[in-house]
Amino acid sequence: MSIKKPRGTSDILPAEIPAWRFVEEVCRRQAAIYGFSEIRFPTFECTELFARGVGGTTDIVQKEMYTFTDKDERSMTLRPEGTACVCRSVVENGLYAGALPLKLFYLSNFFRYEKPQAGRTREFFQFGCECFGPSTPQADAEAILLGDSVIRGLGIRGCVLHLNSIGCADCRPAYRAALKEYFASHYDELCDTCRSRLETNPLRILDCKSPVCSAIADGAPRTTDHLCENCRAHYEELKSILAQSGVEYVEDPRCVRGLDYYTGTVFEFVHGGIGAQAALGGGGRYNGLIAELGGPELPAIGFALGLSRLIMAMEAEKAPLPASGEGSLYIAPLGGDAVSAATLLCQQLRTRGVRCETDITGRSAKAQLKYADKSGHTYVAVIGTDELAAGKCELKNLRTGEKTGTALDADSLAAAVK
Ligand code: HAM
Repeated sequence: MSIKKPRGTSDILPAEIPAWRFVEEVCRRQAAIYGFSEIRFPTFECTELFARGVGGTTDIVQKEMYTFTDKDERSMTLRPEGTACVCRSVVENGLYAGALPLKLFYLSNFFRYEKPQAGRTREFFQFGCECFGPSTPQADAEAILLGDSVIRGLGIRGCVLHLNSIGCADCRPAYRAALKEYFASHYDELCDTCRSRLETNPLRILDCKSPVCSAIADGAPRTTDHLCENCRAHYEELKSILAQSGVEYVEDPRCVRGLDYYTGTVFEFVHGGIGAQAALGGGGRYNGLIAELGGPELPAIGFALGLSRLIMAMEAEKAPLPASGEGSLYIAPLGGDAVSAATLLCQQLRTRGVRCETDITGRSAKAQLKYADKSGHTYVAVIGTDELAAGKCELKNLRTGEKTGTALDADSLAAAVK
């Protein structure tokens, strides 16, 4: 029996690569424009990092981690998200002692043992950005604007920013108590998961997808009615900066995010056209995480976008990919001396940076032309004894059908193709 890929993983095949490359390029370009530098971190970390960093009451830590014991009997986990990893690295490498704000981004794969469905896989890719140092609403706005410019840069228009504040260590306990009291009065109607969340993390009941819990959550106390003065002022200022910057948002009291580290501002970029897993990305402020992981008190804000969901949104909106500006050439030799001439020319063109191929299979000219077309070449040149004798050939543009004559040497061909 043939071996299949693990459930919830995907092969990204050559035909899909241009979309992935485009998304990655837009992410990198926008990150650079906003002053973020790239960071890379290990694919697996000590399990304790996520238990402490992401939080023991989260779905991720409770049921979704790929955890294994290594040969030294240490518990290791494939990274389920990047924020805890970046914070570990910031603390371990003392990056907080350098210039602040410290702005870092990553394009990495992550692993969560979730039930696969459209837009939800067990291995997935994120573009994540983390900004350490400032606790200002301006820093929140900058993170949101960066996420927004990536989404817009991809041509995605139907995405809505959901915004909320879940308060800080001062105001959240009272809000949590109010929520607990409210949901306790509906205990019998809640699903089993939400009943257990009532004790561990009542905020998470707010984003339960079950219709009954969701209807109950509609009437729950709102976090923004329980914010302390600082959190309220911060939230109001953020909203006014976003409005000034022309970023549309909806206030969503049920946007609470599924990770324990958030404090204050939380947000999600939601798209209506990609099915049930509608969040293109999300993030928020996590002012306590660096200290939790053994570093100094260092406020932070960040977000991550899911790359496959960005591509799904582009497809749903039929957002075009930019056409590649580079020309390429297929040289089809008609046997004999033309084969060695084509091989030499092809090599000379490659050293000049031109994407070029010639026949390495010994097949007919017709089969070669079919291959040239299928493999996306822009130009084809057929060369036989006549062309070799004349030192000239005809270049056919495979997109337009147009034919032009050119000298049969590497410099002339490179100039004609580029
Ligand atoms: P998250 O909401 O868990 O946040 O993930 C962010 C995005 O990653 C999601 O909105 C989604 O697009 C994508 N994603 C997550 N899980 C999957 C999956 N199983 N399959 C496909 N795509 C997925 C975080 O991970 C936080 N670390 C974000 C953050 C950074 N907060 C502050 N800084």
